Amino acid sequence: MTDVSPTNAPLSRIPRHIAIIMDGNGRWAKRRNLPRTAGHQAGVSAVRKTVEHCAERGVEVLTLFAFSSENWRRPKEEVNVLMRLFMMTLDRETKKLNNNNIRLRVIGDRSAFPDLLQRKINESEQMTHSNRRMTLVIAANYGGRWDIVQAARRLAQEAKNGSLNPDQINESLLASRLSSADLPEPDLFIRTGGEQRISNFLLWHLAYTELYFTETLWPDFDEIALDEAISEYSQRERRFGYISEQLTKAPLPDATSSSA
Ligand code: IPE
Ligand code: IPE
Ligand code: MG
Repeated sequence: MTDVSPTNAPLSRIPRHIAIIMDGNGRWAKRRNLPRTAGHQAGVSAVRKTVEHCAERGVEVLTLFAFSSENWRRPKEEVNVLMRLFMMTLDRETKKLNNNNIRLRVIGDRSAFPDLLQRKINESEQMTHSNRRMTLVIAANYGGRWDIVQAARRLAQEAKNGSLNPDQINESLLASRLSSADLPEPDLFIRTGGEQRISNFLLWHLAYTELYFTETLWPDFDEIALDEAISEYSQRERRFGYISEQLTKAPLPDATSSSA
């Protein structure tokens, strides 16, 4: 962390990593007397635009919550539509991502997806894996608790096979076994659609993320809405446990890791 001054002008501090809960597709459709699926379709356009605008602003990582581990509880037809949309979007957009030097990563338990979708995810990841302009992380069948559980399971396995001593387990080791461990933690969390909850998104990673909630429904989330969120973020003072006066004195000890 190099710049923590609260006096920066709006947009002067671009978050390295933005994580978004794209919520409100259903209500967007309902207001227009359309089926919920029309809201999801409109949501895909908002995804396309947001990816573009984030890349233009120099965001390094954009994580989008597309389908939670709890979303299987929805009506079967809606789940099917969401799967189909995911598949079609991968088909249509991967080349464009690649042309724009954007790397795609998918986090979540993909083993629950149809085989064809799993194959398409792998192909899209492989095709874009050396791109460096921005990383787009799609959280699909993702749950923050699932992520922590799978990390714990991996550590337990390593302890069992003798490659790890349980005394070595600390925060950074556990974090290194989480999804997207090689990426910076989110600086800015955005939830559209007015609900103020985390809904089992990146539970571990959000420990020191700035939270931003907006009433805007996801299909209406545009460039102006994104800039509003970034502008508010740039006026926040991230203290990481320090007091304000310490933050103006450089250099600081590594503020992003705890002393544990
Ligand atoms: C978010 O919009 C999209 C997904 C969860 C896949 P919703 O479908 O949750 O929209 P609302 O909350 O019902 O309006
Ligand atoms: C969270 O939205 C998940 C995604 C946006 C993919 P939900 O609409 O499913 O969240 P809850 O159920 O209202 O908390
Ligand atoms: Mg919702």
